[in-house]
Amino acid sequence: MLCFAIEATAHTFGCALIDSRGNILADNRDMYKKEDGGIIPLEAAKHHENVKNKLIEETLKNLSNKKINLIAYSRGPGLAPCLLVGLKTAKELTKEFKVPLIGVNHAISHLTSGLLFTKAKDPVYVYVSGANTQILSLEGKRFRIIGETEDIGLGNALDKFGRGIGLGFPAGPKIEELAKKGRYIELQYTVKGMDLVFSGIVTQAIQKFKHGISKEDLCYSIQETLFSMLVEVTERALAHTGKKEVLLIGGVAANKRLCEMLKIMCEDRGCRFHAVPLKYSGDQAVMIGWEGILEYSFEKRNDFDKANIYPYERTDDVEIDLTSISKE
Ligand code: ATP
Ligand code: FE2
Repeated sequence: MLCFAIEATAHTFGCALIDSRGNILADNRDMYKKEDGGIIPLEAAKHHENVKNKLIEETLKNLSNKKINLIAYSRGPGLAPCLLVGLKTAKELTKEFKVPLIGVNHAISHLTSGLLFTKAKDPVYVYVSGANTQILSLEGKRFRIIGETEDIGLGNALDKFGRGIGLGFPAGPKIEELAKKGRYIELQYTVKGMDLVFSGIVTQAIQKFKHGISKEDLCYSIQETLFSMLVEVTERALAHTGKKEVLLIGGVAANKRLCEMLKIMCEDRGCRFHAVPLKYSGDQAVMIGWEGILEYSFEKRNDFDKANIYPYERTDDVEIDLTSISKE
């Protein structure tokens, strides 16, 4: 089975071709960018409208003589104007190719495609992007959120701190670099049960910068503090679930110190650590295609007549079945 997939939940418009064995035939993306990293939904949607034809054309070039059997699109969560461009494009393609259409959840696609991109089989998922921070595990046919941020995502916390000390956007990579020359100073540590709270620590660190503490020391200390909080909750998630693997997903997975800290914790417990490769940690349509194939294999659904967008759909709202297909 070959799937043509579309991603358009936020800043990235992506088109991909992927088959049911996990072969990626095409992966084209174009990102809407604003200097400060913010996003104006209507502008992003306009960007998607402007680039979509070019990306579709580039993607179809890789089809050679193969046939498309399925169209998949990201139905949510995301920004409504962007999601609508994705939906409209997917419906147009569905009419053209006369194949079933399937709408999938973007966050779930990040998670399940993590198994395609790594050797993980049944991990505790640690999903840390700009906007999201969740620790999850698959229980039966649903993802269970074991722990999550109570305020902002880990990436946004790093970006907010970076903005406060004049690092520009995105701050994550710059913080990682400066941290290498820093020493530890104490910051608040706020784990509440299985949940995390980041904003207070960011504010405290920016205050300390105004009182003369060096950027390097603060970058080092904020990384150590925020990452330790995440590692603590992940370790308890392993203990609760009895799982033996951790899979790190999302843009913050690019951080080598975070990977190192999670790896050390895993090895101490006799568990394995996996991280989604940088190339696939951000938004792209490959993961949408893979999730589309999984769901289609599971229930042969065709969403065409009731296709819609779900800007607020939660990860634990959706039923999935990973046993229906295995990568070869
Ligand atoms: P989603 O819509 O899936 O939540 P997103 O756009 O919010 O995605 P991603 O693109 O997955 O986020 O990741 C971007 C975030 O990753 C930014 O906040 C950025 O600062 C952070 N980041 C990128 N590289 C690093 C790094 N080396 N260290 C720490 N954070 C990083
Ligand atoms: Fe995403």
